Amino acid sequence: MIVSLSELLPRARAKGYAIGAFNTTNLEITKAIIEAAVEAKSSVIIQTSEKAIDYAGLNPLRALVLEMAASVKVPVVLHLDHGRTFQVAKQCLEAGYSSVMVDASRMPFRDNVYTMRKTVAYARKFKASVEGELGPIAGQEDYVHSAKAYKTDPEHARMFADQSEVDALAVSVGLAHGLKLKEEKLDLKLLKQISEVVEIPLVLHGASKGATEKEIKQAIGYGVAKINIDTALRVAWSSALRAFFAAKENKDAYDPRTILTVGTQAVKQQVLRHMKLFGSVGKK
Ligand code: 13P
Repeated sequence: MIVSLSELLPRARAKGYAIGAFNTTNLEITKAIIEAAVEAKSSVIIQTSEKAIDYAGLNPLRALVLEMAASVKVPVVLHLDHGRTFQVAKQCLEAGYSSVMVDASRMPFRDNVYTMRKTVAYARKFKASVEGELGPIAGQEDYVHSAKAYKTDPEHARMFADQSEVDALAVSVGLAHGLKLKEEKLDLKLLKQISEVVEIPLVLHGASKGATEKEIKQAIGYGVAKINIDTALRVAWSSALRAFFAAKENKDAYDPRTILTVGTQAVKQQVLRHMKLFGSVGKK
């Protein structure tokens, strides 16, 4: 069942849990995420970056997620992660995405607000939701790169949420995309200050590492209702395949289904682990 962010996140924020937003690029990862959501009876957000779209193609990728989501009872959001332009968000909405993010966080405040309002107006025609970002998040992931984090100012966040009309706001609070950076540290004090003045659900990017489980739970208490996980899935996938090929009995394995299922199972376990941590198990 396909839904938008606004059908899930306000309730999650009010009740003190978060929905995992897991990145996919292919059939196996999508299958792993959906299977985990069904097993955990948890709502789920499946997201694709622009690079994932370039890799798999917009139509194959959206068909894959929409078809798989249609066959299960748990609510699934198909979301564009870090779209770089309104144009990409428009294409995704027209293709059936139920939610889009446009990352205009490198633009001046007013241009960011303008871009988001335009995206929100367009998304509403499809009853779809929009995520915005304020304060670029450090690290590298697909086409998104920032050498340093620009921490989100609480007052700017309040003004941005009011003026942009986005449904969810990604904030820069010390975590980074990709593999762990030396200086990465979740700033819970800042997150708390933001949550006191911003009512809409907050989004935590770069959450695969850089924060302990206890800190993630505290972050959820401070208004975080969507948590993005990509790197942890990539690491689980590649480690499982490396271990598979390192085993003597598999050295001549050649059936892609046998080999890829190893990765699918490893990703599924990671997704389940995060759903438990975020408190979304049993929350449809
Ligand atoms: P990680 O790289 O920490 O998994 O973060 C993913 C993310 O924020 C996608 O937008």
